[in-house]
Amino acid sequence: MRAVDGDGTERRGLWPQYPIRTERLDLRPHRRDDLDDLFAFHSRPEVVRYTPWPVRDREETRIALEAKLARDALTEPGQWLVLAIELRETRTVIGEVLLKWVSDIDRQGEIGFALHTDYHGRGIAAEAARAVLRLGFEDLGLHRICGICVDANAASAGLLQRLGMTLEGRFVDNAFFKGEWITELLFAIREDDWRAQSQA
Ligand SMILES: CC(C)(COP(=O)(O)OP(=O)(O)OC[C@H]1O[C@@H](n2cnc3c(N)ncnc32)[C@H](O)[C@@H]1OP(=O)(O)O)[C@@H](O)C(=O)NCCC(=O)NCCS
Repeated sequence: MRAVDGDGTERRGLWPQYPIRTERLDLRPHRRDDLDDLFAFHSRPEVVRYTPWPVRDREETRIALEAKLARDALTEPGQWLVLAIELRETRTVIGEVLLKWVSDIDRQGEIGFALHTDYHGRGIAAEAARAVLRLGFEDLGLHRICGICVDANAASAGLLQRLGMTLEGRFVDNAFFKGEWITELLFAIREDDWRAQSQA
């Protein structure tokens, strides 16, 4: 898939120009000095309850951070772009927002997000996720982007709906996750619906 990078050049994949600015946030690749900010929420049971990663200690957070440092572009299907959500007012990294380039020919993507609990309920995750949907549809040229969450994760399901996604599927007991069977919800939005709602 051809995509347009930040300076308008066409090449395969997604090469954003950073920071991606929204009203309150700067989205950007991780830096090594994000460790303290990341540890502040990766270590919280209430944040990681429904994420694929466990509660992390400082060293585990550092190892996870190292793996993200070089990820500033999507060059092949199957890759995740993991961006730090920096609150511009304080320069604190308060969360992460993700975009997966799922497939090239089918032009499919997936989003994900996690935010420090102190910043829930302010529309910040939605602001970051909308910027990432824009990247996926406008810059990477995706046709459809989905979001998958555990059905008990009401905050995540609510956010995916606020983003204009439709519930397409409910998969009962389709994963054994953190010691129990879970049911997952799959939400998605297609490029036409996204364009219509962004112009409204
Ligand atoms: C999922 C998660 C990111 C959602 O965060 P969130 O803050 O609830 O989501 P939003 O950014 O959409 O904020 C919406 C809330 O902010 C409120 N809000 C306040 N100011 C707002 C504004 N300016 N704009 C929009 N909403 C605003 C809304 O009323 C809503 O509150 P409500 O939930 O009480 O109805 C968060 O719960 C989280 O990080 N959870 C842990 C990690 C996780 O489970 N990730 C998902 C794995 S699938």
